Amino acid sequence: MLDQARGCRAPAADVVAHAHVNAADYDRMYAESIADPDAFWGREGRTLDWVTPFSRVKNTDMTLGQVSIRWFEDGVLNASVNCIDRHLPTRADQTAIIWEPDDPADPAQHITYAQLSENVNRFANVLLSQGVMRGDRVVIYLPMIPEAAYAMLACARIGAIHSVVFAGFSPDSLANRINDCQAKLVITADTAPRGGRRTPLKSNADAALLRCSEKVRCLVVKHTGDQISWIEGRDVDVKALMRTAAPDCPPRPMGAEDPLFILYTSGSTGRPKGVVHSTAGYLLYAAMTHRLVFDYHEGDVYWCTADVGWVTGHSYIVYGPLANGGTTLMFEGTPNFPDAGRFWEVVAKHRVTQFYTAPTAIRALMGQGEEWPARHDLSSLRILGSVGEPINPEAWNWFDRHVGHGRCPIVDTFWQTETGGHMITPLPGAIPTKPGSATKPFFGVRPAVLDPTTGAELTGEAEGVLAIADSWPGQMRTLWGDHERFEEAYFSQYPGTYFTGDGCRRDADGYYWITGRVDDVLNISGHRMGTAEIESALVAHRDVAEAAVVGVPHDIKGQGIYAYVTLMNGVEPGEDLRADLVKWVRAEIGPIATPDFLQWAPGLPKTRSGKIMRRILRKIAEDDFGSLGDTSTLADPAVVDDLIANRQNRG
Ligand code: WT7
Repeated sequence: MLDQARGCRAPAADVVAHAHVNAADYDRMYAESIADPDAFWGREGRTLDWVTPFSRVKNTDMTLGQVSIRWFEDGVLNASVNCIDRHLPTRADQTAIIWEPDDPADPAQHITYAQLSENVNRFANVLLSQGVMRGDRVVIYLPMIPEAAYAMLACARIGAIHSVVFAGFSPDSLANRINDCQAKLVITADTAPRGGRRTPLKSNADAALLRCSEKVRCLVVKHTGDQISWIEGRDVDVKALMRTAAPDCPPRPMGAEDPLFILYTSGSTGRPKGVVHSTAGYLLYAAMTHRLVFDYHEGDVYWCTADVGWVTGHSYIVYGPLANGGTTLMFEGTPNFPDAGRFWEVVAKHRVTQFYTAPTAIRALMGQGEEWPARHDLSSLRILGSVGEPINPEAWNWFDRHVGHGRCPIVDTFWQTETGGHMITPLPGAIPTKPGSATKPFFGVRPAVLDPTTGAELTGEAEGVLAIADSWPGQMRTLWGDHERFEEAYFSQYPGTYFTGDGCRRDADGYYWITGRVDDVLNISGHRMGTAEIESALVAHRDVAEAAVVGVPHDIKGQGIYAYVTLMNGVEPGEDLRADLVKWVRAEIGPIATPDFLQWAPGLPKTRSGKIMRRILRKIAEDDFGSLGDTSTLADPAVVDDLIANRQNRG
């Protein structure tokens, strides 16, 4: 099966026979999706359940100054009806969500569509009782528990816009997001067990709310029963209210283009950006990609190991699988608790058919040895998926051999928070895979490889930056409260296209290879982090005068964080201060922003006009100081010698 010469593997006959889409279908459907998007997406759009059907399909303009993305714009629907109610006549008793707790000794839960419906309806009534109205923003700061899905769908049911904040973010990060979208309430839990430890979510929320309007209410899911502080009048016990709430809540009819949710993500500059996704286009795109990319069929048990705090959790734990009437597994824990076999134990226990995870997790588990997957029965697996960063061939091969036993196609899915769903990815029955390549575009996606300096579109075999030349239904619509920044951030670089921020190569077979970010965005364990955010956290410390952060290759995380810090005059560098600054950044942003290296920099390499030359800082961090390039434009070339002499990342 493996065409060694080209490193290419064609789908096996049984995979093709079973698949929704084969190679000929792909070619035909892709061609139609590009040539006649109205016909293609009009047909797909009708697979959703509408209150009022749409009459117009695509109405999009990516011209700088007038960017406007609208799909199915005159249609009326409700996302929770599409994820729940429409399945009830045929699958009320089928499991919608399998919940696997952190501690394997605790029982798993199987939540049927009927139970999901009841819980979401009760939750929606609780939100209404707290004065939440259509269009209001609700921040969700929850661990991986079923209530996170209930809360999201309850918002969708009443037309409130949710914004999930990853439970690993600090009180400050939470407060910034609550304030940016002016949320009416925040939903949290008492504490969150993960890997045998507990995160004090409610006390984080308490700390965040000190920085927010006192009108913001706090809904608390009592999950562990751990002791927490309670502010009468502000804090609300969700489970208690759900018990007495009515089990039905009429779904609010929503416009196709009404926002479904906001999700904050890091950019290359400034504060995190509030990415806004629409109701119809997003939902359709999440559902269709989930069905075709994972070749989801009735009876499958699908597991995505992401957290609902990231877009992957939105599209591929909640909205996609549930819109398809699927069974989706939600895992509260970590890959290595109680031991490095936990993922495989869960696969065997629930007979998982599709398993979707991140290269960083594969690399970490690979380091623990192949005996861990070997101990468990993985024969239920059919499809494996990867997301978040380019997957290195070693990790791809290990995943293939020791988890997929050479018989499961691996779908390497390239996409972004902004894209709503998969953009470049194999379809298991249609597209031969090559380790490390995300392969071919999904339907309706027109990738363009551009010359980074001239912006000219390159044809054939080429390397450059990746833009998308036309709109697709899952595309983000705006940045919350800042349409101008939206245009500036994505449409100003290469006129008429959406710019991904990624570098990319297209090979002779027309396969795409993502080569990583070309802007100042880092990818730490598949999570996005702006260097500017970490720098501003550092300079907020009273001893820090200036900071510059770059990425550095990291065996497990893909990229690590390397920070150069210039101290205030008179402050002495030392190990205590170094530890203090690392702790400070964790507290300001969250553990994912923890610097791996922190180097004292008496001066930073700057041009005469004062611009920090990050290229040089990156090279020094990588221990590659033999090829610093032209340093003649530096204001003070001597600073480079000092930085090299004191670098932290010595091989
Ligand atoms: C960035 C988006 C949306 C998925 C989770 C991350 C990188 C994502 C791949 C892949 C190579 C990938 C890109 C992208 N990325 N998937 N399969 N191959 N790179 O979402 O936090 O919005 O980050 O992740 O650099 O721009 P995100």
